Amino acid sequence: MAIERTLSIIKPDAVKKNVIGEIITRFERAGLKVVEGKLVTLSREDAEGFYAEHKERGFFNDLVSFMTSGPVFVQVLEGEEAIAKNRQIMGATNPKEAAAGTLRHDYADSIDANAVHGSDSSTSAAREIAYFFGG
Ligand code: TYD
Ligand code: MG
Repeated sequence: MAIERTLSIIKPDAVKKNVIGEIITRFERAGLKVVEGKLVTLSREDAEGFYAEHKERGFFNDLVSFMTSGPVFVQVLEGEEAIAKNRQIMGATNPKEAAAGTLRHDYADSIDANAVHGSDSSTSAAREIAYFFGG
């Protein structure tokens, strides 16, 4: 088992629902520790750069509009197998497919307003942490 760091974002829909604390509690109960965190409103440029891997997808513009629609809470979570553990706690991208007890099952309304982001690999975790907290 390795101690890892991963990037987590509590998206505008969840911030509007006033559940930042509830979501962080889920991470803490699972043994993940918040080691960096900030509430920020992303510019379109910030969101486009963050989601650059999806720029050819049909949902890209809507995704950028959603991610800039209000403040987000960006944080770095640390713990054993943090990358996979965070993805497990989040649940499937589409809340209709997310398992009971996952964040997206409990807090997300739709695939495009799905409450949380989490890095999907060690490569993306390194890039995404540097994107928001590097230098
Ligand atoms: P993706 O990286 O596939 O999902 P995840 O957030 O689980 O890593 O997609 C990034 C975000 O893009 C996703 O959280 C919500 C949005 N999205 C849509 O709006 N429609 C879609 O069909 C997909 C696949 C994603
Ligand atoms: Mg992804």
